[in-house]
Amino acid sequence: MIRLANVCKVYDGKYALHDVSLTIKKGETLAVIGGSGSGKSTLLQLLVGLIRPDSGEIYIGGQETTHLSEKELDRVRLNMGMVFQYSALFDSMTVGENVAFGLREHKNLSEDEVQRIIREKLALVGLPGVENKMPGELSGGMKKRVGLARAIAIEPEIIFYDEPSSGLDPITTAKIDELIVDMQKKLGVTSVVVTHDMASACRIADRIAMVYEGELIAVDTVTRFQRIEDERVQAFFRTLRPETAERDDQQV
Ligand SMILES: Nc1ncnc2c1ncn2[C@@H]1O[C@H](COP(=O)(O)OP(=O)(O)OP(=O)(O)O)[C@@H](O)[C@H]1O
Ligand SMILES: [Mg+2]
Repeated sequence: MIRLANVCKVYDGKYALHDVSLTIKKGETLAVIGGSGSGKSTLLQLLVGLIRPDSGEIYIGGQETTHLSEKELDRVRLNMGMVFQYSALFDSMTVGENVAFGLREHKNLSEDEVQRIIREKLALVGLPGVENKMPGELSGGMKKRVGLARAIAIEPEIIFYDEPSSGLDPITTAKIDELIVDMQKKLGVTSVVVTHDMASACRIADRIAMVYEGELIAVDTVTRFQRIEDERVQAFFRTLRPETAERDDQQV
């Protein structure tokens, strides 16, 4: 479904991503972890075609996308939904108009049908009835979920999530995780989820990929990933065991 071959992206003479090769199967959920500035958002932006690599190839559903025109890319994007790290809603539009944005751009639907989809997707992300509010009236977490409703409104085959639950409380985070799993189970969606949250990665993903300073240093199934002995990988797993850390503290 998605394949990167030797992809490099340079910013200001420095590699944001270096020689990344990766294949993601249809219906798979891949979690991408890595520290701040490691290149995770850059990876997603390359996959949706918001930026282009300096070298390497990107295939989406068999189509090589790095040399496509904007117009041709638009057609590929019809199959992709993106949940941005900073919800990226249009502040001058109502929540409902935001959710319907892609639908109105790309699909020829009746107004009734558009309204039905808006209600359905908002309910799905746990925000029924907010369609007439303005984004400014919502909390950060609610905005995130509206961004998610917008991404799934066009019912894409592939969804990219950039930190879908950062800054959300644990219960809302669990709900978003559940939604990601549901999208895969019910609709067979292929997902790439960037997250800082190792617990969340383990709950939702078939495989985990780790980016470290622009390099893809490990990709494996959740169980096998936990056994990778690389210190950079293990450092992430330690974040899962705060209770151990607390006990150590008490002994001191
Ligand atoms: N538009 C840009 N112009 C210049 N440098 C950029 C740009 N976007 C990203 N970078 C640089 O590329 C590197 C990777 O950034 P990226 O946003 O992909 O990191 P990230 O893993 O998503 O980090 P975070 O977890 O903080 O969101 C960083 O060093 C960043 O400064
Ligand atoms: Mg980022």
